[in-house]
Amino acid sequence: MSEREKIVENFVENIHCATYEERYLKKIINNTTLINRGRNEAESLNGFWNFCIDQYDSCLRSKWYEEKYFDEEGRQLPIDYSFDQWERIKVPSCWNMHDERYLLYEGSAVYTRRFKYKNNGEKRVFIRFGAVNHEAKVFLNKEYLGMHKGGSTPFCIEVTGKLNDENRILVVVNNTRKRTNVPCDDFDWFNYGGIYRDVELIRLPETFIKRFEIYMKPGSGYKKIRAAVYTDGSVNQGNAALEINELGIKKEISIVDGFGEIEFEATPELWSPENPKLYEVTLSYMNDSVTDKVGFREIAVKGTDIYLNGKKIFLKGVCAHEDSVYNGKAITEDEIRENFRLAKEMNCNYMRLAHYPHTEKAARIADEMGIMLWEEIPVYWAIDFRNPETYIDAENQLTELIKRDINRASVIIWSVGNENADTDARLKFMSALAKKAQELDPSRLVSAACLVNHINLRIEDRLIDYLDIIGVNEYFGWYDPDVSKLLTFFNNSNPEKPVIISEFGADARACERGTSDDIYTEDRQMSIYKEQTETIRKIPYIKGTSPWILFDFRCPRRHHYLQGQYNIKGLLSADKSHKKLSFYVMKEFYAGIDKKD
Ligand code: GCU
Repeated sequence: MSEREKIVENFVENIHCATYEERYLKKIINNTTLINRGRNEAESLNGFWNFCIDQYDSCLRSKWYEEKYFDEEGRQLPIDYSFDQWERIKVPSCWNMHDERYLLYEGSAVYTRRFKYKNNGEKRVFIRFGAVNHEAKVFLNKEYLGMHKGGSTPFCIEVTGKLNDENRILVVVNNTRKRTNVPCDDFDWFNYGGIYRDVELIRLPETFIKRFEIYMKPGSGYKKIRAAVYTDGSVNQGNAALEINELGIKKEISIVDGFGEIEFEATPELWSPENPKLYEVTLSYMNDSVTDKVGFREIAVKGTDIYLNGKKIFLKGVCAHEDSVYNGKAITEDEIRENFRLAKEMNCNYMRLAHYPHTEKAARIADEMGIMLWEEIPVYWAIDFRNPETYIDAENQLTELIKRDINRASVIIWSVGNENADTDARLKFMSALAKKAQELDPSRLVSAACLVNHINLRIEDRLIDYLDIIGVNEYFGWYDPDVSKLLTFFNNSNPEKPVIISEFGADARACERGTSDDIYTEDRQMSIYKEQTETIRKIPYIKGTSPWILFDFRCPRRHHYLQGQYNIKGLLSADKSHKKLSFYVMKEFYAGIDKKD
């Protein structure tokens, strides 16, 4: 609160304090808090929470979380909330899908629930949120614990010593789009809000394994594994034990200042889409142990080729949003499996999870089902590239994503963004992100979905120098209706790295039929897909495609009567009940790729 506001004598804080948010911005929860311990042995705080939208941020302005029901003399005070009488909402879920009154609601909403806690001998306790869109301010038993920004990545809060037999957790969620956020205030998907992924209570010993990394060491000829362990707690020197029983491996990792790493010889069965082999990995340190199922593989690029385990591959993919007709962004495991099954039915071996980190369950399921993944942070379109705060936000989301999924064999590409104009500010911002990704994780490839240089009609973007793989979004035949430019565009380009066509496509209203000239029909979409695939087939430096998009998805920018506030570029209808004609074009194209190899 500024000095000026305090001087006025009739000042009433909760109605005159215009800078009320400042006090909450001082406690930021970021990637340094992240606990990632493999398969969850946590207790769920999911379930029905009390809920109220809060358009004017009254909870934060009037500090509802302090629950001041009486004054100093015990006289009852008037209040404008009644937590336990509010409506109840399921956590995880999106408020937009909870009730049609909230479909288009953007702003703050208050979630709260009581829960019991009994210490079972643990020394430390944490609460882990899978994701909250977009900002979360967390309060426990009237105390403000901190704020997380970033709508698609997990975060943790230590609550050791703050829990009673009966507790109240309260979270103020705000999904307002903001120019300086990541993503900014304009993007081509639906802005869901809520605590839409799991909330868990994690009980741990005083010293524990906070997270670990384990992967096939790049360039080791598939004969070396690297493992690293990060511990938290007073005993930050000692020996951790790593076991991979199926490989007869038992190694000691020396921990110094809370960190230890090791490289050792091993010749595991390599993970691939055809053979998604996973091993049980166990790490123990002091009286803590964690277990995870991990695949070992190597992804690499050489010239304009992509290699998986030393074999040239073509990424036969498709894009997908984290969107469901029924659940919004809170997609279920069944829906994830359905999406992967549909992709496999289309002969895919790869998916681009656009444009933000999807649930961690997606990469786990892809590990099991054998689907390679491109994962991405929402540095999308016209981000505020000149804003240092915005960069910190983007880098934090990238770090949270990498720390979360670093042990997932299915993830082969980290993408630092999508369709950004090639300005100096953007180059500085995104090249720094690319370097950060390579520094955090040398075992994967870094890419971004770049735009076509429409003036020179070629692949040209200064960010390419910092990428391992060039992603290119091109919409010849659709946004540029002259599909004949496509071949010229490819022939004009002379990339020295592998190129993935990270997006091409066209709108088609499901079941709308006509001629190949009738826009918004399946026939028009199919003719564009045929032109695209027949041209792409001829281009040797293209090593992957992920057409936009597996299924139609909600999008408030799409108001043509045939779109109905959906982006209808899907190869399936939004409810996935109908495969459009182009689905079969892609299925045949990918089947042909295998024969060609
Ligand atoms: C862009 C963008 C997508 C968008 C698509 C479209 O390439 O990356 O997010 O939905 O085009 O316009 O349909």
